[in-house]
Amino acid sequence: MPTFRFTVNGQARTVDTEPDRPLLEVLREDLQLTGTKYGCGEGQCRACTVLLDGRPIASCVTPIRTAQGGKIVTIEGLASGAALHPVQQAFIDEGAMQCGYCTAGMVLRTAALLEQRPKPTDAEILEALDGSLCRCCGYPRILAAVHRAAVQSPAARKEASSATK
Ligand code: FES
Ligand code: FES
Repeated sequence: MPTFRFTVNGQARTVDTEPDRPLLEVLREDLQLTGTKYGCGEGQCRACTVLLDGRPIASCVTPIRTAQGGKIVTIEGLASGAALHPVQQAFIDEGAMQCGYCTAGMVLRTAALLEQRPKPTDAEILEALDGSLCRCCGYPRILAAVHRAAVQSPAARKEASSATK
């Protein structure tokens, strides 16, 4: 079986497996990173979102061969020690989760958005989270959480401090 090497949350990982196995399966079953959720398994709900080289991808339809040499971030990798990532904290502060099944994917897509757009508009948020389904219909609170995170995120703070110089 071929060997795949990549980093997950900053740690080098090596997996011997079939090249077409979904990244989601490798993360959950081989690496025991179960924060990434299996929803539809068909690329239709984005519950399984992880970041690959900074870009959100649906890991259920991404073969492991695509991750060769890449940098993967899962929900387990967002916090710094005991300090939650600003997006995680904003989701908690706004109560933007019920069952939580969509939350990891929503949080990771939001974190990627704020790297590109520190102060996104509603339209930009809706576009960035398009396709992420919340079966609990928590969309208004999720939108509020993204705006709250935008105020608190490192990218927004950097932009604000350079604007005042
Ligand atoms: S589980 Fe991957 S998109 Fe639904
Ligand atoms: S909080 Fe339940 S699916 Fe979104």
